[in-house]
Amino acid sequence: MTARLIDGKAVAAELRKTIAARVAALPFRPGLRVVRVGEDPASGIYVRNKDRAAQEVGFDSATLHLPVGTSQADLLGLIARLNADPAVDGILVQLPLPPQIDTDAVIRAVAPEKDVDGFHPLNAGLLASGQPRLTPCTPKGVMHLLRAAGCVLPGARAVVLGRSNIVGRPMAQLLLAADCSVTILHSRTRDLAAECRRAEILVAAVGRPRMVRGDWVAEGCTVIDVGINRLPDGRLVGDVDFVAAANHAAAITPVPGGVGPMTIACLLENTLEAALARRV
Ligand code: GUN
Repeated sequence: MTARLIDGKAVAAELRKTIAARVAALPFRPGLRVVRVGEDPASGIYVRNKDRAAQEVGFDSATLHLPVGTSQADLLGLIARLNADPAVDGILVQLPLPPQIDTDAVIRAVAPEKDVDGFHPLNAGLLASGQPRLTPCTPKGVMHLLRAAGCVLPGARAVVLGRSNIVGRPMAQLLLAADCSVTILHSRTRDLAAECRRAEILVAAVGRPRMVRGDWVAEGCTVIDVGINRLPDGRLVGDVDFVAAANHAAAITPVPGGVGPMTIACLLENTLEAALARRV
């Protein structure tokens, strides 16, 4: 391996320390409510980690856990109460939601100024029109990692693999806002390998284990692997074949320990930003 490792755990720990210090200096405690519906086990772990991290930086944080059969009306009712609660600065509804619930309607129901996931169409639109307010946590975390790795962004050829609303699209917008030349690749792209090889910055967010092969990575590329995939034998791997890619890349994130820890740190950052915007 010749690539430098980008240590997401260390960058996230530093960001969390800075946030805790800023919270300690405030005359109020930012309030976060994490809503979980049903029993998806992965969501259970994510929600517990988010809630714990929020308490550690001094937020007033709580998880609201609703049964799997919760109706759309009941969930929208809860969101309306949280929207109206002056002690609540941030609302996060963990996805995926059970099938009886219209996810887009839930995302639209969260007050945009409390939308710490940055998923509301108003926040997505503000980002797309160059006026970012609350931006999605995972792509925001990737931007922190690129800067921490010393990546020169203006003019860089950045390639984003994936076009989800949670990662790919906002990722492309944040890179564009940082003056990269951005290409988005997806399932209908012709010759993914050739498109990836043009990248100076490659962000993989497709949810397919080790899809990006070593020879898709140009010499000197900075590779950010957003994927977290579990193999049948239980091991966690990213969307990038790490061992092979690390022979070509200048810098690369590991899985786990790369982007994952940044998502939670950026949720805390968004909650603090939302609290300051609402209260100061
Ligand atoms: N499910 C997977 N990623 C996310 C995320 O960033 N936010 C929420 N709310 N749910 C998710």
